[in-house]
Amino acid sequence: MRSLQITDKQEQALQIVDADMPEMPANSVLVKLKAAALNRRDYWISIGKYPGIRPGVILGSDGCGIVEKANSEQGQAFVGKEVIINPNINWGNDPKVQSADYTILGMPVNGTFAEYIAVPVDRIHEKPSHLSVEEAAALPLAGLTAYRALFTHGQVDADKKVFISGAGGGVAQYAFLFSRAVGATTYISSGQAEKVEKFASIGAAKAYNYKDDGWIKQAAKDSGGIDVVIDSAGGDQLNDFLKVLNPAGKIVFYGATTGLPSKIDLYRMFWSQATLQGSTMGNDQEFEAMIEFVKKHRIKPIVEPSIAFDQAHTAFEMLADNKQFGKVVLKMDE
Ligand SMILES: NC(=O)c1ccc[n+]([C@@H]2O[C@H](COP(=O)([O-])OP(=O)(O)OC[C@H]3O[C@@H](n4cnc5c(N)ncnc54)[C@H](OP(=O)(O)O)[C@@H]3O)[C@@H](O)[C@H]2O)c1
Repeated sequence: MRSLQITDKQEQALQIVDADMPEMPANSVLVKLKAAALNRRDYWISIGKYPGIRPGVILGSDGCGIVEKANSEQGQAFVGKEVIINPNINWGNDPKVQSADYTILGMPVNGTFAEYIAVPVDRIHEKPSHLSVEEAAALPLAGLTAYRALFTHGQVDADKKVFISGAGGGVAQYAFLFSRAVGATTYISSGQAEKVEKFASIGAAKAYNYKDDGWIKQAAKDSGGIDVVIDSAGGDQLNDFLKVLNPAGKIVFYGATTGLPSKIDLYRMFWSQATLQGSTMGNDQEFEAMIEFVKKHRIKPIVEPSIAFDQAHTAFEMLADNKQFGKVVLKMDE
């Protein structure tokens, strides 16, 4: 079967490789993938910037496909159905934090950028019927990360004023869509004018370009203070967020794309009872809750037109140049 693997080739580590069909451990299902979505994680791995990279592993944490085979009664019920895959492996028993054995599909175990994948039956969920296979493939990792950051940590509801930074990002778009769905007043920033305009047109209370001087002052003035910031960029901008945060406000962050802050204003933080809260992925109960939420609110992920699997390199280039608006999805041939 065709698969996209990280190899030890110096020039071009990402290669489409003919791989053996996956073996099926006990209580697993064989999924014929129809679509698979990229995450920034896949890009970090492709450029060697991720811990524990092993050559010969099939990348990809997100996928949607049809169950072709099962080796248990539980799995038989899914045969012929379209499913999405929970990318969590071994979250463990503590809902608050993942176990030491926790990993994510697509490194170190083989992932979804292939024609087939075998996964334990408890990893699959029926595709929400209002989503296309491309939209459904774009949901799992980013939807889960946004759900935990926004609701478990951010406690966002209709009474909150929320700020989503870099809303054009894969996770951030869900944070925006989910926040809007519960009726929170939702402000966003983005680095590209078209994205700023787009978010303003789909329900952002106000949208700012984080490359413009003075945007943070304007945001403070417009909002009168923010209760929850959701961020993945990190860097010195964290101090700007502290300036717009209401007393007892919270910054929830799940990434640090632009690196570490050179300093952090602890004086302001302790005086205003502010919280800086890290967040990673989400547990299996949050995954199920996220799917139910998406169904209830009929959330439609924002996806780029899909890219043929054989053109996967183009998809990685889009992430490298940050050209995408919404999730980048690879489509397998029918
Ligand atoms: N902890 C976890 O569980 C977890 C899960 C998923 C992702 N992550 C991490 O979170 C980050 C985002 O992941 P993703 O998959 O959503 O990536 P992505 O789709 O590539 O999005 C990254 C976004 O970052 C935004 N950005 C870039 N520079 C920025 C800045 N200076 N200020 C504000 N925003 C900025 C951009 O938004 P605009 O396009 O709007 O400018 C860009 O679209 C990555 O670092 C990733 O590794 C962590």
